[in-house]
Amino acid sequence: MRLLVTGGAGFIGSNFARVVLEQRPDWHVIVYDALTYAGNKTNLDGLDSNRFNFIQANVCDESAINEAVASVDAVVHFAAESHNDNSLTSPWPFVNTNIIGTYRVLEAVQKHQKRLHHISTDEVYGDLELDDPAKFTPQTPYNPSSPYSSTKASSDLLVRAWIRSFGIQATISNCSNNYGPYQHVEKFIPRQITEILEGRKPKLYGNGQNVRDWIHVEDHSMGILAILERGKIGETYLIGANGEKNNQEVVELILELMGKEPSDYEHVNDRPGHDLRYAIDATKINEELGWRPKYTDFKQGLKDTIGWYKNNEEWWKSQKAKTESRYKEIGR
Ligand code: NAD
Ligand code: DAU
Repeated sequence: MRLLVTGGAGFIGSNFARVVLEQRPDWHVIVYDALTYAGNKTNLDGLDSNRFNFIQANVCDESAINEAVASVDAVVHFAAESHNDNSLTSPWPFVNTNIIGTYRVLEAVQKHQKRLHHISTDEVYGDLELDDPAKFTPQTPYNPSSPYSSTKASSDLLVRAWIRSFGIQATISNCSNNYGPYQHVEKFIPRQITEILEGRKPKLYGNGQNVRDWIHVEDHSMGILAILERGKIGETYLIGANGEKNNQEVVELILELMGKEPSDYEHVNDRPGHDLRYAIDATKINEELGWRPKYTDFKQGLKDTIGWYKNNEEWWKSQKAKTESRYKEIGR
């Protein structure tokens, strides 16, 4: 199996490339990544160079993606602009990469008749009330809130249209919030850990009651592998690990694990349009594909993640000042 992983120098894509090379000793992985501010080639350090190649290119580049897709058996499409806050100040890269880029991937996959797995997010379903007993299922109507989530929803709809109209061999997964090593410091958990490591207080948007459904990145990667190998063509699978926590609880736990007072955080301005709650019903992937999360102890997973950021300061230091100056500009 020769597998093309778009966006494979980012947080989840690089974890997936590592997991695939570990789990499938006869597979070859080609990472295809534009190396935007969010991509980092060192995330792929140590991968077996006999079974791994890197192509620096943009998914919007028609001829480059066409050539890369032609050379493989299957494509897993992670490449995206992924941060909600950025989409609120600069939506264009989101429209370009997430919609046009996915269109280019679909055209190439259709032309060369290759298997595609498209990576998406639970945010396409909008948000839930805090006391709603329901969770997102594959039947939940799309109702995205932000430029980020609406461009991801658009990309899912393109994939569905290419499956139905052109018969491409594709699957889609919509996953909840990932955490773990190599996540960019703009995101919630790494931002709070690195704020504390730099001697500042964690920052909670609004009242901190918004709920996210946390899953360890390795569990997400194993779910993707299960769908790629055993998923039914044309289907959508939701991936989640029953990890609902509100943001205040997460910040208090990070502070406790880092030896600080749990109340030692500050409230900052809320994110406009801030989704209240996400929650995934993962019954379909559990029952059809037998996938189950391994990292069920969130406190332990968070402790390990804090350890990784403590030990890999050189990895995040260079992103940190730029990221915080962007946050300062928008008052968060
Ligand atoms: P990330 O921002 O860490 O990585 C994105 C990667 O894509 C980077 O390496 C970047 O260089 C690359 N990229 C961006 N634009 C590109 C382009 N035009 N051409 C080629 N490469 C490009 O993102 P992530 O958190 O790893 O998310 C990966 C995927 O998973 C995204 O599709 C995202 O929507 C989805 N997702 C993320 C989460 C989460 O919690 N982070 C949850 C569910 C789904
Ligand atoms: O649900 C899946 C999605 O999860 C993915 O599709 C996105 O790519 C990923 O970025 C993530 O989106 P969120 O907007 O939920 O993640 P973020 O890390 O930006 O924020 C998580 C929560 O924490 C959210 O309620 C906003 C809040 N927050 C965030 C930051 C950066 C804070 O309270 N303080 C902060 O400093």
